[in-house]
Amino acid sequence: MRSIGRLAMAKFYETFPLKLGCAVKGIDLKTENRPEVIEQIKEDVTKHRILVFKNQGVISGDRHVEISKWFGELESTFYKHPRSPHPDVFRVSNDPKEGCTGVGRTGWHIDGSFQPAPFSYSLYHMVSIPKQGNTAFAPLTELIEGLSPDKRARWERLWMVSDRRSGPIHPLIYSHPVSGKKVLCFHLGMTTDFIWDKGTPHERNASHEEFEEIIREIHHEFVKDGGKIQYSHKWEDGDFIISDNLAVGHEATPETQFPREKVGLRVLHRTTVMGSKPPEK
Ligand SMILES: [Fe+2]
Repeated sequence: MRSIGRLAMAKFYETFPLKLGCAVKGIDLKTENRPEVIEQIKEDVTKHRILVFKNQGVISGDRHVEISKWFGELESTFYKHPRSPHPDVFRVSNDPKEGCTGVGRTGWHIDGSFQPAPFSYSLYHMVSIPKQGNTAFAPLTELIEGLSPDKRARWERLWMVSDRRSGPIHPLIYSHPVSGKKVLCFHLGMTTDFIWDKGTPHERNASHEEFEEIIREIHHEFVKDGGKIQYSHKWEDGDFIISDNLAVGHEATPETQFPREKVGLRVLHRTTVMGSKPPEK
């Protein structure tokens, strides 16, 4: 309650609840630099998990990076597309001449599960908006809390092995380093193995059949009941999203890959902030 009171008193900006997170109005990210406002934004990202700043116009690559650095050091592990406005800005598109294509389409995930510490925040700005092409998000704590007791107990025993880079191994369910809430470390398209009961005498790798079943099972939790748990963000001009990457799963919808000739040009800029510590049970 105290922070709500402070927010009401401070009135740095207004927040409007979305199905997941909040829309934010009455602030210009292009010029805002007051430390107390930045602190408020950081608190609100942790509290709401997604902030959608409305009506921001076009934010330059340099400024996108400056805003991202409010949250920590950037970690830029992606392919540097020639059209990217800054080496720390990942530029994705539905046109290979404009940005990297097919990004975010290999399954539900968090960003950076291939790092020892996955990215703490992802910041997104759509600089050219197609007619279709939402980004879907889902709250991980609620997803875990909605599991049947059996499934929850099974997932608590699992570790994921990333198929990229050094192949780090992460607990599937762990506590968020800032909020302390239970969240998932996962990537349905970039996992090479699961390990049961890591660090115990019963430790073993999942069989191929178990692996397939676990992937299906996690996917099912995101899409069951018509995807009720999802918030599908329809991009509007000037949207700038800051997400608590560890608190929400996300996926680019199939429409994001529709050709430019059909839906218009899609160009999304994204930065990622280095994780603070590896996921731990
Ligand atoms: Fe992603």
